[in-house]
Amino acid sequence: MPTTDVAAFTAALPKVELHLHLVGSASLDTVLTLARRHPERGVPTDRDELRRFYAFRDFPHFLDVYFAVNRLVTTGADVVTLLDGAAAELATRNVRYAEIQVTPVRNLGSGISFDDLAQALADGRELAAAKHGVELGWIFDGDTALGLPGLEQTLEFAVQHRPPGTVGLGLGGAEIGVRRADYAPLFARARDAGLHCLPHAGETVGPEEVWAAVRDLGAERVGHGIGAATDPALLDVLAERGITLEVCPMSNVRTAAVPSLAEHPLPRIVAAGVPVTLATDDPGMFDTDLDTEYRVAHEVLGLSPAQLADIARAGARAAFCSPQLRAELLTGIDEVCAAHGV
Ligand code: ADE
Ligand code: ZN
Repeated sequence: MPTTDVAAFTAALPKVELHLHLVGSASLDTVLTLARRHPERGVPTDRDELRRFYAFRDFPHFLDVYFAVNRLVTTGADVVTLLDGAAAELATRNVRYAEIQVTPVRNLGSGISFDDLAQALADGRELAAAKHGVELGWIFDGDTALGLPGLEQTLEFAVQHRPPGTVGLGLGGAEIGVRRADYAPLFARARDAGLHCLPHAGETVGPEEVWAAVRDLGAERVGHGIGAATDPALLDVLAERGITLEVCPMSNVRTAAVPSLAEHPLPRIVAAGVPVTLATDDPGMFDTDLDTEYRVAHEVLGLSPAQLADIARAGARAAFCSPQLRAELLTGIDEVCAAHGV
């Protein structure tokens, strides 16, 4: 199939997006608007400067920039604006369902009360469905820089406010020097409260922390998880248990988590039979979108159209959406495959 046809094929596939951070989804225009409202907060107010601000030296530098932008989001109305923009972009990529990572403790630190955040998420979710036809779910993630108290507060937000669409508990931020196992009691409490366990692990470190996410936290999917690629026994466990990795190739390139796109381990993970969903992570900051992730998976990483369709199917199966929506997605994927001879 010629490259242009593969692009048309993947664009036509009904998709889900299971790894997308609220603040990282903001377009350049949205961030410029917020930065001009708060010019003292150190985020460029000029488009070219903002692009340069988004040239990340390494993962810690990326996190510094992410939190600087996060500090611009100061009201519930800002959150609704971000969700409106994210859902509009998702709709153009033929995404019907997305799980968005929200970091309530960081939002609280920027002046948004838990009550206001919960209301904004409820409003934004209704808007996304009514205006853009995209269903949203929430993963409330702690930031490892805020440690166990931060994740405990995150869990309290999720349990006590539980806005419509609440899916699970996550854990993001820096990984080096952090032991996921320390967070096990909080993920156990989350599970008891009916929340799914959806941490990042193995984004910038090796397989040990993916093991810990699976063994100690009970991860049902793993954010990134690319550190698993060097450990065949771990890949076998992920494949056998059907634990889906949320792989974000362009993110990993932009944050220098991988040395180059060509060296990305996605093909090894797919070849090992591990379910994979492709995602954008922080598309506004990484200058990417879901079509680009599928395109590079084909053009640079050599995945075939049939493998890309399987990735779309794996996403539908791993999404915590309604069974009806999952069935519609899977039927739609089969129809697009038939129409394109895949
Ligand atoms: N917060 C926002 N984006 C993140 C990422 N890619 N990894 C960890 N924490 C994050
Ligand atoms: Zn992430």
